[in-house]
Amino acid sequence: MIGLRAGQMEMGQLGQWGWLSMDQDLVAMISEIIEGKGHRLYGLSAVNQRAHALQAAWLAEQAGCDAALITACLLHDIGHMVHDLGDDPAKDGIDDMHEELGRRWLMRWFGPEVTEPVRLHVAAKRYLCAAEPDYFSKLSSDSVRSLALQGGPMSEAELSEYRANPFAEAATVLRRFDEGAKVKDLATPPVAHFLPYVAACARQSSQGG
Ligand SMILES: [Fe+2]
Ligand SMILES: [Fe+2]
Repeated sequence: MIGLRAGQMEMGQLGQWGWLSMDQDLVAMISEIIEGKGHRLYGLSAVNQRAHALQAAWLAEQAGCDAALITACLLHDIGHMVHDLGDDPAKDGIDDMHEELGRRWLMRWFGPEVTEPVRLHVAAKRYLCAAEPDYFSKLSSDSVRSLALQGGPMSEAELSEYRANPFAEAATVLRRFDEGAKVKDLATPPVAHFLPYVAACARQSSQGG
């Protein structure tokens, strides 16, 4: 159903949601994905995908980040929620490439201020493991497991390339919230609280071409 709706939007055929504006339709779809697919556990951690997304966005909002970074935090793992590889492909040694899947899914509605931090959030983990000697020791067990599948800490050449990306700083900030967003039973605002940020970014992107 979710994929069908996305396809309908791409073709400008909104079907039963045709009376809604694009922004309303988009935020409703994103809300449905997080609420509907968010029950999947977040790797080996004690939280599910929904709680993880909300905690990451909540950390960004509390830190005073802009709407684009709050949106990127909320949606950084949406790639895990829009594939059919099961709840935890990493346990079978499969890297679902969720950062690239997420970028491609999101770029239909958002600009690089949202999609680039999402694309780079795995690279940011590899960056921090190489650039900050004590970062690896702070990683949760699921992050250590996925790090190996994702290529391990960056090489010197990769560090230089990463730092040259204009969205590297935002991705690194996102990555710190990502790692912090695994607290069991932490109370956060609901998905609806963050949807105005999502709508604002989509609107800005479409206005800005
Ligand atoms: Fe991720
Ligand atoms: Fe994450």
